[in-house]
Amino acid sequence: MSVWAVLAAAGRGERLGSDRPKAFAKLRERPLLAESLERLEASDWIDEIVIVAPPGWEEPSILVAEELGCAKVSACVGGGETRAESVRAGVAEVGGDAAVIVVHDAARPVLPDEVIGRVLTALNEGWDGAVPALPLADTVKRVRGGQIVETLPRDELVAVQTPQAFLAPVLRDAVAGELAGATDCASLVEARGGRVTTVPGDSRLVKVTDAADLEFVASLL
Ligand code: CTP
Ligand code: MG
Repeated sequence: MSVWAVLAAAGRGERLGSDRPKAFAKLRERPLLAESLERLEASDWIDEIVIVAPPGWEEPSILVAEELGCAKVSACVGGGETRAESVRAGVAEVGGDAAVIVVHDAARPVLPDEVIGRVLTALNEGWDGAVPALPLADTVKRVRGGQIVETLPRDELVAVQTPQAFLAPVLRDAVAGELAGATDCASLVEARGGRVTTVPGDSRLVKVTDAADLEFVASLL
């Protein structure tokens, strides 16, 4: 069974406010993209990689892969306006031999190999998809017009991360449909009746959103 990774790196990184896309912001002197790419390349769980690059940054992305000596990168494609459109573009480059597709955010550079193992193990147990999740530490409330209208039962809530793994036909089907509003791949699969489970996430998989996150992530390396 062949496992393909789609690395979503096509975002603009507006909240980071760099002069270049977030995937090329510097993390310890390297483009952010290099960290997760290197880890996917080194993972025994992953056979092939598709990079979804910021539009116009396909060539520099390929250069990063070459400099790392990546042998698993099969394609590099420009992304779309939204994350879901970028994933759709990446999935279109995944080979017909793929049994499983693992989608990962380049914005989460610190990718522990054991998390890839956990999501793939869940698929072997019969799930259509599996996502890393962490319990919430804070109480979560719904607010409308400045007033709290609901306090959500925290014991049922989790925060989900990437890498998210899916049976290849399930993800292909999910990205062929309506994408509007989706902030992760699992929600597309759930919306089509797919059975997605959670596995323990990892606090190191923090997403780089602003400059402080970049400093924090650098401290984890
Ligand atoms: N992403 C993508 N294509 C997009 C938007 C996002 O591939 N059109 C990717 C980003 O590169 C990132 C992940 O999805 O790895 C999560 O997105 P986010 O953290 O929101 O990154 P950006 O969209 O780049 O940041 P911002 O929202 O601040 O512009
Ligand atoms: Mg974004």
